[in-house]
Amino acid sequence: MLELSAPTTSLQIKNVGPFDLGRLARLHRSCFEDAWSRSDLAHLLAMPGAFGLIARLFERRRFDLEARRGVGFALCRLAADESELLSLGVLPAYRRRGVAKALLAAAMIRSLHLGVRIMFLEVACDNVGAQRLYESFGFERVGLRPDYYRLPDGRRRPAYTMRCDLIQARRLLERDRQSLPPTPPRAGRLSG
Ligand SMILES: CC(C)(COP(=O)(O)OP(=O)(O)OC[C@H]1O[C@@H](n2cnc3c(N)ncnc32)[C@H](O)[C@@H]1OP(=O)(O)O)[C@@H](O)C(=O)NCCC(=O)NCCS
Repeated sequence: MLELSAPTTSLQIKNVGPFDLGRLARLHRSCFEDAWSRSDLAHLLAMPGAFGLIARLFERRRFDLEARRGVGFALCRLAADESELLSLGVLPAYRRRGVAKALLAAAMIRSLHLGVRIMFLEVACDNVGAQRLYESFGFERVGLRPDYYRLPDGRRRPAYTMRCDLIQARRLLERDRQSLPPTPPRAGRLSG
């Protein structure tokens, strides 16, 4: 179809709901060699303090509104006063458009709202792109875990542990707030 004006896009971050598990498993499989199944994900999200976010992209063209129901996800778990980013991924075709940034910001803001001050994550040592993303939010390397990731063929990959003080990062988050979608409500873990 001939487009007479450039399409405009908007991103929405929503809570993972019970009907999103299949979609979440497909997203995870598109992003990682070591894919987590639907039941792995259901089990993970049923753990105390766990929550999941899905990024949806809407593209408004001249004559219609096209929605991609899921282009990325973030999974987190809170324990005591710490938050752990368990997984983050964006479909290959939608990368470098700020989707991971929006998901990470939403996960950090959610964690802050729930009274958590520190966020940790593990990232493969050779995953330089993800490290850049985390560093831009104030994460710093605090450890090295040899053999942390196990690949389906049995190989192992080392990972860095990274840590972020969310209170210090708040300024960065607020700086970017205008370009971010609204934070999802603090609903229950699988309440959609
Ligand atoms: C890492 C990943 C989540 C980034 O998603 P994304 O939506 O493309 O990231 P964003 O567009 O929000 O990028 C934000 C910033 O992160 C950095 N970044 C992201 N991907 C990068 C790459 N491949 N190379 C270098 N820097 C990168 C850049 O600084 C980027 O800002 P810029 O585009 O203005 O330069 C995505 O590549 C992915 O899903 N990879 C496979 C799964 C994975 O590695 N997850 C992380 C596990 S810890």
